[in-house]
Amino acid sequence: MSVILNESCFNEFLTLIHRLTGITIAKNRTSMIEGRLRKRVLALNLPSYEDYLKRVQSDRMEEAQFIDLVTTNETYFFRTPRVWDHLRNDFLPAWFASHPGATLKAWSAAASSGEEAHSLGVICQSFRDQNSAFTYQIQGTDISGEMVDLCRKGEYSGRSLELFQRTQPELFRRYMVQASDAIFQVHPEIKKRLKFQTHNLFHSFSSPEKFDLILLRNVLIYFKTDDQEKVLSLLASKLSANGILVIGESESLAHIRVPYRHVEPLIYRLATSDATAKKAA
Ligand SMILES: C[S@@+](CC[C@H](N)C(=O)[O-])C[C@H]1O[C@@H](n2cnc3c(N)ncnc32)[C@H](O)[C@@H]1O
Repeated sequence: MSVILNESCFNEFLTLIHRLTGITIAKNRTSMIEGRLRKRVLALNLPSYEDYLKRVQSDRMEEAQFIDLVTTNETYFFRTPRVWDHLRNDFLPAWFASHPGATLKAWSAAASSGEEAHSLGVICQSFRDQNSAFTYQIQGTDISGEMVDLCRKGEYSGRSLELFQRTQPELFRRYMVQASDAIFQVHPEIKKRLKFQTHNLFHSFSSPEKFDLILLRNVLIYFKTDDQEKVLSLLASKLSANGILVIGESESLAHIRVPYRHVEPLIYRLATSDATAKKAA
């Protein structure tokens, strides 16, 4: 396509992306946006990016596809090993000891294609195999419908899976089931405790329950400070009194006004949770 994305149309796309997703894209990323949208403009047989912009603005189905295209969905199993070590060795044993008879409720709040929620499922199931009274439920959400479909399918292959197999061979052997050729799924015992739905972090999550663990990793980086504050405040109302929030390794809440206190690197609790909860939850 010889048509190029001009500056004013690019700026309109940026405004639209921010309105729909909260994502702020830098003004120098024209070629990134052009690259992501070009195929779709061609597939729709549209003469220009302006026509595509109008289509997205007037068609809810196209709006959903546009969100799929402009979100960045990179993820992999057991991303940031330190977090998983903490969950396995500290958080789960302490939570189980202080919540007899309860079901752990966890939320992977920007789940992408589901590797994070599935990694958590593996960790929780491994803990359950040693502590049969422990039960868990994992909710995964993402703004991208395409990603949520992948989460629900839960079929994995390629680089991410190889990394899982190489770094966690024992967990891989015990909890991954071969579906066909190079495609694996988590064990059905885990799969039945995972559910997925689309959700925009800028909206209040409709679930009536609060979560003991919220994973909000590698998504805050796409938001500017006041938007980060909005998302983090909404999530605070969904975090149980002694629950923890986990963020990504290139993210920090250090200089923003949010109702959380730092517990250890990447791990936060509600500012209102009492200090002794650190030991108990
Ligand atoms: C880089 S991935 C992070 C995946 C995973 N949490 C991880 O750390 O590996 C970021 C995800 O955030 C999602 N996302 C972006 N804006 C969102 C929003 N406003 N609401 C919900 N999800 C959003 C994207 O669709 C994408 O799948």
